[in-house]
Amino acid sequence: MLLQTVSARAVRLRSIYVELSHFAQRHAAWSAPRRLAPIAAPRQFRSQAYLRERATPELPAFLKTYKEAVEFPPATYDFETFFANAEPNTQVVLHGYLGSLSAISKSLSFATLVDPTMEHRIQLVALKNAIEKLKAVNKHSPVAVRGTVQRKKSKASDSVPKSSKDIWELVLEDIHVLNDFPKEIVMKPETVFPPEQRYLQLRSDAELREALMFRAKVHNVCKVELEGHCRPAFVEIETPLLFKSTPEGAREFLVPTRRPGLAYALPQSPQQYKQILMASGLPRYYQFARCFRDEDLRADRQPEFTQLDLEMSFATGDDVMRTVEGIIRRLWSSLMKDPAPEGPFRRLSYHDAMARYGSDKPDTRYGMEIIRLDHLLPVDLVNKISPLHDPIVEAFKLEANDNDPTETSKLISQFLDSPAGAPFNANPDGAPGVFVYNGKAPLCGLQPFGFEAAEQAEELLDPDHGDLIILQARPRAPFTAGSTPIGDLRRALHASAVSTGFKPAPTGFDFLWVVDFPLFSPSSDSEPGQGGAAGITSTHHPFTAPKTPMDVDLLLTNPTQAVADHYDLVVNGVELGGGSRRIHDAAVQEFILRDILQMRPERLEDFSHLLDALRAGCPPHAGLALGFDRLVAVMLGKESVRDVIAFPKTGKGGDDAMVRAPSPMTEEALETYHLRLRE
Ligand code: AMO
Repeated sequence: MLLQTVSARAVRLRSIYVELSHFAQRHAAWSAPRRLAPIAAPRQFRSQAYLRERATPELPAFLKTYKEAVEFPPATYDFETFFANAEPNTQVVLHGYLGSLSAISKSLSFATLVDPTMEHRIQLVALKNAIEKLKAVNKHSPVAVRGTVQRKKSKASDSVPKSSKDIWELVLEDIHVLNDFPKEIVMKPETVFPPEQRYLQLRSDAELREALMFRAKVHNVCKVELEGHCRPAFVEIETPLLFKSTPEGAREFLVPTRRPGLAYALPQSPQQYKQILMASGLPRYYQFARCFRDEDLRADRQPEFTQLDLEMSFATGDDVMRTVEGIIRRLWSSLMKDPAPEGPFRRLSYHDAMARYGSDKPDTRYGMEIIRLDHLLPVDLVNKISPLHDPIVEAFKLEANDNDPTETSKLISQFLDSPAGAPFNANPDGAPGVFVYNGKAPLCGLQPFGFEAAEQAEELLDPDHGDLIILQARPRAPFTAGSTPIGDLRRALHASAVSTGFKPAPTGFDFLWVVDFPLFSPSSDSEPGQGGAAGITSTHHPFTAPKTPMDVDLLLTNPTQAVADHYDLVVNGVELGGGSRRIHDAAVQEFILRDILQMRPERLEDFSHLLDALRAGCPPHAGLALGFDRLVAVMLGKESVRDVIAFPKTGKGGDDAMVRAPSPMTEEALETYHLRLRE
């Protein structure tokens, strides 16, 4: 054995020797003795820059300019440190963008230097020669400025003492232009640039930049709460973006590969990976996860968006809700002026949310609650407002301004005549029935109700002189989907009342959990769902657990009646997040996919990785994802998530107008990915 080892080493050494001698032969000049060059006469030290200069031919102008910017002088300070440390008569270099120039006389000009963060500025004083240099630079150009610090001279009119930032100015010695800002671009704080020039919008719009900085703070506070304050601590884990196509609910984006017929899919959410992490012994997962859904663009939707995604094992929905309330409270107490919402947040069932507000994400701050009236309305009236046989009729009230019926009538007619009102007029189940309550009119303007119904309606709605009462019919059927026509009308009419100044904008934050959703809903044409043959899809995703043991029984007898252990976090009419307790049992998960949703065996096979993981002793688990873009938008009171995303998709089809994506596939790419366009 020893002998073998020794001889193996000898072979290895010999082969190294052979390698070396081959190398030496190939590089004879290196191995042969070389004549020593005579020792050079001592010469002056030449800078690298000088040597490089000598070696290069005459440069074209653009390269010369660029060369000057390549080795630009480093800044002595950032502006904040400068303001804290400035000393008169010292020389400093500061970086920033050149602001406006104002010429006072032939020998004196002023300009501002805006710091790279664009939060601070300092006055530059240019005297004599420096004036020409300054004039040659376009406004907004990035520069490095060398100058002597001096105290600003106070004017006699300056009665208010200046802040420590405002007392310094720089006497300009030299200005180093780092790039040019074209003169023809007009950039003012109020300029609105097209999406193609998002960089200019970001640069000119301080609010937009602040939104991005605020977003980063929200990110950090969430991290601190989850890692520093929750026990066990949450662990941030990245999950793959090259995932596979599985019928989870939304339409996906596919990523073709060079292997014929094979594609990845981008994840709609990390749902399956995070559940598999629970089976992998990682009890608290979170991630700021990029998600991709091929959906139509809306103010609160992007095809590519971010979730604060989390999952907890050995946990129930209540544990998750408590954790999320903790995140919200910490965010509000750390970053918001409004008081942190007290907990636990109230819970509203899906049925009650739909019945009282006509929405599963109601804005609960402005009343206008919906009530049922069909049991008391005369058939004549019902027939006038709806072609439906025996419909449900609901109503809400909008309070008048100063009890003035004329103003109320104006508001509703303007609304119904506007594009926002058009879909409500065109409702095939009947246009809204509009009544302005008028104490001076017979039956207060409610004659079509008849005496008895008018009296009962008054009792239920408690209207005042000038209030608006709206009736709306809908088919007599259980609630499905996210809203009813009267719920949409309530929201749109209130928004119009706010935008016209009829009502004040609601303030504050009213958080609530919407719970007890149906586990399954009828399939719709607009959402792909799970593509099963049963005519139903999972209301959220197919991994949601039934809520109670009774709901487990219903899986066999009447699955459409089963209630889900799902919870949506809603604030001010925005669905901020959604989550659920999961089915952690492989047999039950398979039963739902195969027997209830009736998915085809090959599609069922797409979930085999998850079923295998559940089968491997996966503990019970629950989780949730907050829409991170929506969260930041809500905190900042922004209408659209686009205002809190650096590079949002803008076009109708979810285009990135700036980089012009998606772009046509070239013949070469089609070939690489083995694709052919259909005629
Ligand atoms: P869900 O589909 O409800 O749940 O998504 C969670 C939250 O993400 C936000 N959101 C969006 N934000 C911007 N653009 C979009 N297109 C978009 N779609 C959704 C919403 C929503 O509440 N895997 C589950 C979560 C879970 O069960 O743990 C999921 O993705 O604020």
